[in-house]
Amino acid sequence: MTIATIDPDAEPVAARSQDDYFAIAEKNLPGGGLGGYALPDDLRYIIRRGEGSRVQATDGRWFIDYIGGAGANIIGHSHPAVVEAITERTAEGLHFFAILNDAALELSEKLVEHIPCAEKIVFTTTGSEATFFAMRIARAATGREKVLKFEGAYHGTHDYAAISLFPKAAANYPVGSVDTGGMPEAVKGTVLVAPYNDLDTVERIVAEAKDELAAIIVEPVQRIIFPEPGFLAGLREICDRHGIVLIFDEVVTGFRLGLGGGQGRFGVTPDLASFGKIVGGGGPLGCVAGKAELLDRCDPKRKGEPGYAFINGTLHGNPLASVAGLATIGVLEEEGFHDDLFAKSERLKTLLQEVLDRRGVPAICAGRDSFWQILFTPREPRNQIDILAGDSARMRKLDLGLIRRGISILPGTRRFVASVNTEEDFALTAEALDGACKALG
Ligand SMILES: Cc1ncc(COP(=O)(O)O)c(C=O)c1O
Repeated sequence: MTIATIDPDAEPVAARSQDDYFAIAEKNLPGGGLGGYALPDDLRYIIRRGEGSRVQATDGRWFIDYIGGAGANIIGHSHPAVVEAITERTAEGLHFFAILNDAALELSEKLVEHIPCAEKIVFTTTGSEATFFAMRIARAATGREKVLKFEGAYHGTHDYAAISLFPKAAANYPVGSVDTGGMPEAVKGTVLVAPYNDLDTVERIVAEAKDELAAIIVEPVQRIIFPEPGFLAGLREICDRHGIVLIFDEVVTGFRLGLGGGQGRFGVTPDLASFGKIVGGGGPLGCVAGKAELLDRCDPKRKGEPGYAFINGTLHGNPLASVAGLATIGVLEEEGFHDDLFAKSERLKTLLQEVLDRRGVPAICAGRDSFWQILFTPREPRNQIDILAGDSARMRKLDLGLIRRGISILPGTRRFVASVNTEEDFALTAEALDGACKALG
């Protein structure tokens, strides 16, 4: 399994040639891609399979994968425990609707056990749905309309999340940038924006908008940016003072920073939290967890009441995703799982920083605890403005150089270490970085 983007010995492993698949993509998919990302033409590949820490393209080439299913694949691809769970369950029905199933109930038990804020949960299909519903529940509970989010934070694709996602400059807080067409004017005014790790600005905005603010939503780790000591606790205190619902978006941090996610890790318990990715073992499942008094607003028996929060979804509590989530959490519960993962992550970061330093590239390998990214900034960023101040053109060039050398990442985004990463993966990644640095000039 040699990795290389250009591997003359690679044998195709799919029915059609890569060029045939590109032609289909270009014909049928906008921009020839699956969503918000596009690689340059000469670096595109089509995945056929994932195995452990690696993915194989249809033309046979292998890549070391740090995209990790956007963070879902914390135990790598096709982990035997997950494969076994899904295989067994598949023969018993892929999907039902509305009627309870045993797998979803067993998963709910695990989620309530591990997530500190979870007195109850409601299932969703995706992380976007989870943040959307968390905001709706907060509005239903407070009778207020506005939500405060942080600049550069990603909460999914719905209208209330598509503000100040990829700002080009600091916002005129609390007015953020609108990152999609098609957003109703009425929505724009309901989303306020503040810089991450900046409690003073949050205080100022809240002082002006407190009577209209239903919620503050925050990623416990915003992309690659860790919270400064006291930041999350400060948000908790501000929310308590003004009767605002504190939502942690744990779609990425949930079960990744530990079984208790960001809230367990940083010792701050929100009122509500959104989850996705790991909780469904990479399958279509997310949830909103939180205080019973808030989640009970979703009780279908309350339909018609003013504070009722409508929640429904065809795939909610899907049994296949539930057994995949249960199997994944089972692996995470093994003694020392997270400590080992974090130690691996440190090892990779050290190796990569050594390469950058040796090559005299003015960049840092940022992040910790299974998050990493190479940034052309002088130090770990505190917020999105620090990231914007970095040399994004060189960062992109270096990232493309890594992809060219067999490392599967998305340019300009944070990457993940998985528990199945090996010392060989890290040595090959360091070698690829060395080549990419040399080519950077
Ligand atoms: C923090 C965070 N929230 C929400 C989402 C949206 O999740 P999904 O893509 O499952 O809708 C993501 C996806 O990457 C995320 O990282």
